[in-house]
Amino acid sequence: MSDHSYKEPLLTLDGVSMKFGDELVLRDISVQVRDVIRPGMSQGQVLGFYGRSGIGKSVLCRIIAGLLAPTAGTVFVGNPARPVITGDVGFVQQRYPLFNHRTLFDNLVVAATRKYPEAEAKEHAAAYLERFGLGQHRKKYPAHLSGGQRQRAAIAQQLLCSEHFIILDEPFSGLDVAMIDEVKKIILEVTTFNDLNTVIIVSHDIAATTALSDTLWLLGYERDAAGHCMPGAVISKQHQYNLAEMGLAWQPGIEASPAFGKLVEELKQEIRNSA
Ligand SMILES: Nc1ncnc2c1ncn2[C@@H]1O[C@H](COP(=O)(O)OP(=O)(O)OP(=O)(O)O)[C@@H](O)[C@H]1O
Ligand SMILES: [Mg+2]
Repeated sequence: MSDHSYKEPLLTLDGVSMKFGDELVLRDISVQVRDVIRPGMSQGQVLGFYGRSGIGKSVLCRIIAGLLAPTAGTVFVGNPARPVITGDVGFVQQRYPLFNHRTLFDNLVVAATRKYPEAEAKEHAAAYLERFGLGQHRKKYPAHLSGGQRQRAAIAQQLLCSEHFIILDEPFSGLDVAMIDEVKKIILEVTTFNDLNTVIIVSHDIAATTALSDTLWLLGYERDAAGHCMPGAVISKQHQYNLAEMGLAWQPGIEASPAFGKLVEELKQEIRNSA
């Protein structure tokens, strides 16, 4: 069992519901991410986020990022907690919004100037390029970067302009095995940059995501007495997994352990059953 404890909440969803016309997509979601503390370590938070296709994961991400106002409820971030506004939470979507007419370095400087004065923004942008192994590509335009390089650039860009929070929607899709390893390594690095850094990974790659996470949320439907799914996806108590308490967080090579394999199978079964 790992040695850890929790401090104040960093992200709180309080009664979040979302309706598009008559379609109730999310129903009364209340969940929380708290600052996890490991003695002698700078340990950020990694939250894995699962659910069947079309259940509302990307909608919930946009709500968490302050890009979409829920029909009910509130998202709070930071300490002291305040309602989220656009820019608090970085959001790396499948199509990364880099400026094509600017070099990689300039793209990162633009992002960093949202948070720092220009000279400082340049220093931070240069430091992130090195940190993400992109230093030698700094003068290239986005069109001349590989898919994986663009992905790293997009993660760096969101980290440079947001306050500790970053959402990665499907970060592993379309990548080769080596690149998946690389993105996993970057996520681990991001979460040890700063104790308050919190990464939310939305993915259908259950094994890769579970291996990186300390918490998992599974979006599903509750059933009524007759066994029919009720409208509006929820994150029930039994679908909030604390991998740290289960002894399955922060362990390199955890994917090879039988307990890990068993959990991944259970999660897949829960997802299959959730619609
Ligand atoms: N702006 C919108 N207007 C109307 N309906 C929407 C809107 N955005 C999303 N939806 C609906 O909300 C539901 C959830 O969509 P969402 O994109 O969150 O699914 P998802 O869980 O991310 O699926 P996937 O795994 O396929 O990416 C879908 O039924 C979708 O059609
Ligand atoms: Mg989606």
